[in-house]
Amino acid sequence: MKRVGSVILIAIFLICCIGLAFAGEKGNARKGKYLYRKNCRTCHVDGGDAKALSPIDKEQAGWQQVFDNYKELACADKWAEMSEKDIADIYAHLWGHAKDSPSPAKCE
Ligand code: HEC
Repeated sequence: MKRVGSVILIAIFLICCIGLAFAGEKGNARKGKYLYRKNCRTCHVDGGDAKALSPIDKEQAGWQQVFDNYKELACADKWAEMSEKDIADIYAHLWGHAKDSPSPAKCE
C-alpha cells in the first residue's frame, strides 16, 4: 500500500513539472498584458515617445520577427531591463491577439 502511495505521489509530481515547463515556454498572456502596459505602453502610446502599438498592429509572424530580433530595435535597452520570462509573457500577449489571431485586440 505504501508503495502505491509513493508511485501516485511521483506521478503527480511529474505531471506538475511538465505543466510548469509548458507554461514557462509558452508565456503567460494575461501577465504579458499587464507587463506590456507597464513596460511598453509608457512610450508606445498616442502622444508618447514612440508610435502607439497594439497587438492588432502586426500579424503573428510580424510579432515573431520583432521578438526574434528585438536587440535591433530602437528601444532594445528597455528590453534588456526585463527578464526572459517577462519578454515571453509579453510575446504571448501580443502574438495571441495579433491581427490574424482568433482574438485580435487593440489596447485601449
Ligand atoms: C523609452 C521608451 C520605449 C519603451 C519603454 C519601449 N519602446 Fe519600443 N520603441 C521606442 C522607440 C523610440 C522606437 C522607434 C520609433 C518608433 O518605432 O516609434 C521603438 C520601436 C519599437 C518597435 C519597432 C516599431 C514597429 O512598428 O515595428 C517595436 C515593435 C517596439 N518598439 C516594441 C516595444 C515593446 C514590445 C516594448 C516593451 C517591452 C517597448 N517597445 C518599449 C521606445 C520605447
